[in-house]
Amino acid sequence: MNIFILTGAGISAESGLGTFRDKDGAWSKFDPMKLATPQGFRRAPDDVHHFYNMRRRDLLTAEPNAAHQALGRLEAGLAERGGELFLCTQNIDNLHERGGVRRVVHMHGELLKARCTHCGLVAEWHEDLAVELPCPDCKRTGGMRPHVVWFEEMPLHMDEIFDALVGAELFVSIGTSGAVYPAAGFVQSAKHAGIRTCEINLDPSENAFVFDERRYGPATELVPLWVDEVLAGGFPARA
Ligand code: OAD
Repeated sequence: MNIFILTGAGISAESGLGTFRDKDGAWSKFDPMKLATPQGFRRAPDDVHHFYNMRRRDLLTAEPNAAHQALGRLEAGLAERGGELFLCTQNIDNLHERGGVRRVVHMHGELLKARCTHCGLVAEWHEDLAVELPCPDCKRTGGMRPHVVWFEEMPLHMDEIFDALVGAELFVSIGTSGAVYPAAGFVQSAKHAGIRTCEINLDPSENAFVFDERRYGPATELVPLWVDEVLAGGFPARA
């Protein structure tokens, strides 16, 4: 079976990384227009760097949880059975990779990479970023930014993502509120393509009503159970 999975911040919540729209989420404390837009970065780059520096530090001490690890098991198990997992994440953390998934498509970029807006260099980056830091390649200052997608910017890898989505037999959304497009629209695209859809989340998402099947509870409990079911052949692509 070919499975397309979309993940969001909820899958990393039990690893201690905060979500965005929950009661104590990042956007309840900070203004996304100031910290996650190109204009916000132009106006106050130090504030934006500080926000992402704190998140990078949190990520470097976080560990993948049972849900990330279960998806690593799923990728390997599907491959053994002649199938494939396409894991598309909105998350900028690297916990899927560290949980054992070999191919992860980061549509909103990666926190452990930096980009130079002067020369286009994209490099692995585990340190704090700052306005005065020179680019390791072109040596100019003021251009280094986190390699993440901000509001009003185009998500990455969209052609590859849509090809995989319409070629899948099952679409599963895990730990996302369904509030941010284009990811929030994937379930509709899957439905139009006649693909079975399933949501696994703590609470019903904004587009919960669109899904064929819904399971609610913590990702660390529900995802390993669902993976066991799939690998045992008990969760067919079509009901
Ligand atoms: P949100 O914060 O919008 O939603 C997180 C979802 O995870 C919510 O629906 C929660 O119910 C669910 N959740 C929380 N804890 C959970 C748990 N332990 N197990 C399962 N589910 C849990 O995060 P995203 O949907 O990822 O973009 O947000 C999408 C995008 O909006 C992000 O990529 C980011 C943000 O602004 C940018 O910064 C561009």
